[in-house]
Amino acid sequence: MQTTRVGFAGMGLMGSRMARHFLTKGFPLSVWNRTPERCQPLVANGARPARTPRELAELSDVVVTCVADPNAVGRIVFADDGIRPAARPGFRYVETSTISPGLARRTAEVLRAQGADMLEAPVTGSKMGAEKGTLLIMTGGSKEVHDELMPVLMAFGAKAIHCGDIGQASVVKLVGNTIISFMLEGLCEGLVVGRKAGVSLETILEVVMASGFASPYFTFKGAAIGRRDWDTHFSIDLLVKDQGLMLEEAGTRRVPMPGLAAIREVFQAARGQGWGEEDIAAVVKVLEKSAGGT
Ligand SMILES: NC(=O)c1ccc[n+]([C@@H]2O[C@H](COP(=O)([O-])OP(=O)(O)OC[C@H]3O[C@@H](n4cnc5c(N)ncnc54)[C@H](OP(=O)(O)O)[C@@H]3O)[C@@H](O)[C@H]2O)c1
Repeated sequence: MQTTRVGFAGMGLMGSRMARHFLTKGFPLSVWNRTPERCQPLVANGARPARTPRELAELSDVVVTCVADPNAVGRIVFADDGIRPAARPGFRYVETSTISPGLARRTAEVLRAQGADMLEAPVTGSKMGAEKGTLLIMTGGSKEVHDELMPVLMAFGAKAIHCGDIGQASVVKLVGNTIISFMLEGLCEGLVVGRKAGVSLETILEVVMASGFASPYFTFKGAAIGRRDWDTHFSIDLLVKDQGLMLEEAGTRRVPMPGLAAIREVFQAARGQGWGEEDIAAVVKVLEKSAGGT
């Protein structure tokens, strides 16, 4: 049995799967979600439902959050019934959502002003990694808090890499999603041209995977494209959010990102077609459509 009382906010694709590990590993768990019904499967297995994020923080030593975007984090932390009023010395807040480095820093500041502390902890590994508890976690904040929270992090992750101060882990996460954007765009553009030239997707993937271009990412997304399977692992809406966050950070740092800016427009077009909630692999449909079909 674990004694650290954990609160988990956010029962989406990732959060619902991450939170379940706290129950199976014996942590006392409380849960909160904007749409309360989504807490039901965990409550049925022993988690305690909280009515507000504030109550969640009052019931917990550590609150872990995994929600969509900066707006959602703002609501959970800064609202009157949010986490901030319940922050106290010794309280810990672990933010695993992908948000802007600036919001991570502001959140840490207000919590630290009340004697609490925050670890920024964005994750990678997708829905399957969340399910298996094998996510890679990037942390930002003091190394002491990182070390102190390792038992909590290892409940849903396989490895945690300390990236630096608060804000720096968010930057590393956004670099990762920039790379994914380029890889997926490259794969999809290549596949559409290849098919027009009469080469099958299977042949292209076989060559890619036998060569120096290989990446497990191409197997994962290439196979989904082959099956026309748009079941969401990571939605187009959320990747566009991350592309926007990266472009904002690059703007602040006066770094041009012409490639990412162009790719974002392709993903934005997918949202325009009504495919925003589908998996990011569905972006291939935009390229197929603008090429006049497959
Ligand atoms: N999916 C992935 O592969 C993946 C991988 C790594 C990181 N991430 C990041 O992890 C986070 C969650 O991703 P996900 O795929 O789990 O997203 P998701 O399935 O869309 O779930 C989003 C969650 O955020 C909540 N939410 C949205 N707007 C809110 C608001 N204004 N106030 C309070 N709660 C709000 C939703 O509550 P409701 O149930 O009420 O809608 C839901 O619990 C995102 O930051 C994403 O970028 C995702």
